[in-house]
Amino acid sequence: MAAGAGLAFACTLPPYTEGEPGAPLPDLDEEQLRRFAEGQALFNRPFAVAEGLGPIFNQDRCGSCHDLPTSGGHGAEPVVKAARFDPVEGCTTLSEHGGDLLQQIVTEPARALGVQPEQTPEGATITADIRAPAVYGLGLVAAVPEADLLRRADPDDTDADGISGRANFDADGRVGRFGRRAQHATLRGFVEEAIRLEMGITTPSRPSEELPNGRPLPEGADLASDPEVDEATLQLLTDYIRFLAPPRALAAPGAGEGRTTTDAARDLEEGAKIFDFMGCAKCHVPLFTTAASGSPSFDRRRFRLYSDLLLHDMGPELAGPCIPGTSPSEWKTARLVGLGHRFEFLHDGRAPSIEDAILLHGGEATPSRDLFRRLASDARRQVLLFLQSL
Ligand code: HEC
Ligand code: HEC
Repeated sequence: MAAGAGLAFACTLPPYTEGEPGAPLPDLDEEQLRRFAEGQALFNRPFAVAEGLGPIFNQDRCGSCHDLPTSGGHGAEPVVKAARFDPVEGCTTLSEHGGDLLQQIVTEPARALGVQPEQTPEGATITADIRAPAVYGLGLVAAVPEADLLRRADPDDTDADGISGRANFDADGRVGRFGRRAQHATLRGFVEEAIRLEMGITTPSRPSEELPNGRPLPEGADLASDPEVDEATLQLLTDYIRFLAPPRALAAPGAGEGRTTTDAARDLEEGAKIFDFMGCAKCHVPLFTTAASGSPSFDRRRFRLYSDLLLHDMGPELAGPCIPGTSPSEWKTARLVGLGHRFEFLHDGRAPSIEDAILLHGGEATPSRDLFRRLASDARRQVLLFLQSL
């Protein structure tokens, strides 16, 4: 009886918020849906040189790098980032030589005046091709209370489990959530940086152009008047991302290949248990709940994330271009939702499979990785199926 009652209770818990990849959150009102549709069109619209694209940039629209398997997804086009790391001075992004993101395309008018694509900045010690993650579900991420993120941080590893996640903070002291180094606390902040640095479009708070490797732009290289977008445009792009639902879990990725749906469901259940047992969930935290909100789509919603949004030292093998205040081997825990839609893994896409990505974990994740390495082949298969279903 008691067990039955427990089960009935479990069934009445609110389900996770999720949707088909690229779909809007459930329960948006009409005005929010209108903004979602308008923002989506803007996200996928190419900007023209006359509107301010460039003079140096990487792509002419957000959707070029966030389009797989749908608008708002991950991207196959990497960007090149570079930084200088010195054990004494720490990390610098070489802003006087053009900054950490290389802009690799030059508009026609600027090229005619001799402007060159950016080269690796002078003094850089690390460069990497950085992959674009999906932006699905990030509005829910923005709506998690700060306290829920901070209480998982353990920078001095006081519980001695070998895992010492730490929060990154922005200049205003807010907890960072966005970007591979958790360098942005707000979606609005990330969106502004993306449009400025990936597309060369100036904004009201940053009305001057990026300089190619820090060199001045010749007169006439950019004729659009600054700022090249207004605040309303930034807000519309931000709302589109805010209203994107996290991707739905795949029911039974292993069914069909000689296995029934029941076999596959059992595999997923076993895989989830082993994931927990290996300590993966200490960093890849499965579930979060948003704070209370006047907007039903964001009001105390449970959603799957599989990240703690904290920085972890992943060991020298995974070192990459850092930003001030981080070390090259520190990364924000990658979200694992939507893994089944992907074919390249880790920040630079170096892992061709989920299995390779796990085997490349080091640093704080070494004990977890070693447990995975020692799994019997059937258990390993179940974990991988579980990860693909996320
Ligand atoms: C040339 C490719 C490219 C273009 C164009 C681009 N992005 Fe990105 N985007 C990336 C990469 C690479 C990252 C990861 C960078 C990092 O985390 O430091 C990223 C990360 C993001 C994130 C943070 C995701 C997270 O997990 O925290 C958001 C939000 C985002 N982009 C929005 C946009 C918007 C909005 C536009 C258009 C204004 C845009 N991007 C254009 C490549 C691109
Ligand atoms: C100490 C924290 C930590 C632990 C423990 C951990 N991970 Fe990770 N995981 C990360 C970080 C950080 C990244 C991103 C690394 C990068 O991009 O270079 C990551 C990336 C991944 C990726 C690639 C995701 C992507 O988007 O490319 C997979 C898959 C993954 N982890 C699975 C696992 C599994 C399975 C376990 C348990 C065996 C595990 N992780 C244990 C922190 C951790």
